[in-house]
Amino acid sequence: MDTSQQENPHFPIDFVPAERRIATLAEDVRAGLLSAPRWLPPKYFYDERGAWLFEGICEQPEYYPTRAETALLAANADAILQTTRPAHMLELGSGSSRKTLYLLDAAVRQAKPLTYWPFDVTVEMVRHATSDLVQRYPELQFHALIGDYTGGLGGVILPDEGPRLVVLLGGTIGNFEPDMAVQMVADIRDRLDVGDSFLIGFDRIKDTARLEAAYDDAVGYTAAFNKNVLNVLNRELDADFDPDAFMHRALYNADLSRVEMHLVARRGMTVTVGALNQHIKLHEGESINTEISRKFSPEGIDDLLASGGFETEYRFEDAASDYALVLARAV
Ligand code: SAH
Ligand code: TRP
Repeated sequence: MDTSQQENPHFPIDFVPAERRIATLAEDVRAGLLSAPRWLPPKYFYDERGAWLFEGICEQPEYYPTRAETALLAANADAILQTTRPAHMLELGSGSSRKTLYLLDAAVRQAKPLTYWPFDVTVEMVRHATSDLVQRYPELQFHALIGDYTGGLGGVILPDEGPRLVVLLGGTIGNFEPDMAVQMVADIRDRLDVGDSFLIGFDRIKDTARLEAAYDDAVGYTAAFNKNVLNVLNRELDADFDPDAFMHRALYNADLSRVEMHLVARRGMTVTVGALNQHIKLHEGESINTEISRKFSPEGIDDLLASGGFETEYRFEDAASDYALVLARAV
């Protein structure tokens, strides 16, 4: 782990080096935008504006996963902390760390020393969230990590002492293709010893109308979030996308149990991507796939965890089985 610390009086922030080479934005965009069908990797949604829009999505009535997961954490945090008794808690894609408060409150009630390690690609978000936590929890230790988890977790060196708990909330595991999800779970397992714990949120398979509404809220936060990736390309790659020339579309693909997010061209257009020296011709109705969000059955959950080296210990669900919060043990 790189020890170059950011200027901050209260807690360390380290940049985590990737163990596998990560494609640059330009390489990703070249690979995705020039292929058929066209696609873009989702991590570029989360610039400062994107992170803020995502918070907005989480508050929309159609987006049930945040409420369901929050309720499951509120009801079960004490039990989770009691069985896992972590000395170190690493959260991947921690974002605002808002739901994590329930786990941290439970840790304080247990009065056992804990270091919380938030890990996210968005620097400002982590800095802001962790600054708040440091003030809120004088009893706990904090060590923020900035990095891209698609490059592997080999650069995350957790101290040896004490049990560990890795946390991955928000149904984020569903944003990976199946083989990448297995890789992610295996990468997490590699950070752990036998008996350490993994707390992970999964969105469950349910009726198409509710799934599609969750990814197309009436106010338009999701549409704005999806289109925001075009602003990122305009800024970072000297492109000239007109976000208003695209429609947001979210469709549930029942065969693959996943919601697929698209940006659909409202008219024919030619887009210039300066940094790639490319002019890209899109025809009316042509779509760019920007995200997948896979939905799970109980068997799918257990299989994924098992293939990465974990055993499901508890599956906490709401009465409607909309969402599952799973506590797994490294075996
Ligand atoms: N855990 C929060 C946020 C989920 S949104 C919740 O449940 O509400 C996904 C989060 O993962 C964002 O904060 C985003 O910045 C982060 N993220 C996305 N891709 C990432 C990557 N490749 N590496 C690290 N963090 C990533
Ligand atoms: N992990 C979230 C999910 O799959 C991410 C997300 C929510 C998202 N809404 C979105 C990604 C809209 C792209 C577009 O539920």
